[in-house]
Amino acid sequence: MTNFLSLADVTDIDALIQAGLTAKSNPFVDQHLGKNKTIGLLFFNSSLRTRLSTQKAAQNLGMNVITMNVGQDSWGLEMEEGVLMNADKAEHVREAAAVIGRYCDVIGIRAFAELKDREKDYQEQVMHQFAKYAKVPIVNLESATRHPLQSLADCITIEEAKKVKRPKVVLTWLPHFKPLPQAVANSFCEWMNARVQSGDVDFVVTHPEGYELAPEFVGNAQVIYNQDEAFKGADFIYGKNWSSYTDYGKVLTQDPSWAVTMDDLRLTNNGKFMHCLPVRRNLKVADEVLDSQQSLVIEQAANREWSAQAVLKEILLTL
Ligand code: CP
Repeated sequence: MTNFLSLADVTDIDALIQAGLTAKSNPFVDQHLGKNKTIGLLFFNSSLRTRLSTQKAAQNLGMNVITMNVGQDSWGLEMEEGVLMNADKAEHVREAAAVIGRYCDVIGIRAFAELKDREKDYQEQVMHQFAKYAKVPIVNLESATRHPLQSLADCITIEEAKKVKRPKVVLTWLPHFKPLPQAVANSFCEWMNARVQSGDVDFVVTHPEGYELAPEFVGNAQVIYNQDEAFKGADFIYGKNWSSYTDYGKVLTQDPSWAVTMDDLRLTNNGKFMHCLPVRRNLKVADEVLDSQQSLVIEQAANREWSAQAVLKEILLTL
């Protein structure tokens, strides 16, 4: 693996899930792989889990870690080519990425969608500009359209918690007053659709009309507009809010009936609740769900360390 930008960079999902579980059982066995190697973690947006878990994973592998909040700790970066730089961005990505690539053997980047221009967001300009100019492996720490380290942690969590060979997994939209990116939902669909293909899960997506995800992500997943119907017999409920893709970046409804409660979980097959966090309690999910035995959210967040470690190990083996 040279870059980890999306599922397309993964040759064997099963092997990567198993590598995550192996790292979890023996975190320090590969300390030698990262000796004298440096990872730079660049954050254009806030983070708790991604920042800490990726740093921890890199340290478990013996790597040095440099972290920077871009535009706060550093100059603001211009991503467009051939522009007159007479506005607020003081440095071009051409120089910045090239310089960081001289200090770091691997670069992790978080850069969310701006939710103003769909074409621009879905071009993934920040990831591609860094991949082009840094000339070292790039790890996606959540981009405009994807969050693959989260999706790998989700796969690890489902693998650990499943009670049946082929569990039913349901992705449900949750209400929120703010427009949020589609990245987590897109990525989860992408990875679950691959798990459907390999016979590991059944996958259903449920959301209000108007919240259809991009066709390239939802793929052949079954979409059901009635949440109660979708939840029937589910082994895992994965909650997430996203803003509209079709009416790009808009909040079309805040219907509170889409928030997950224990009454909703009672429709499932004693289903487990998952969410990538952070989560706004009682807006998106009831306290009683998050505090119940059916919630996996803490274990899921803990598994972010092992998903990052599995990916970084594969990259280190290529250096
Ligand atoms: N799930 C996740 O990516 O969390 P952070 O935004 O806190 O990194």
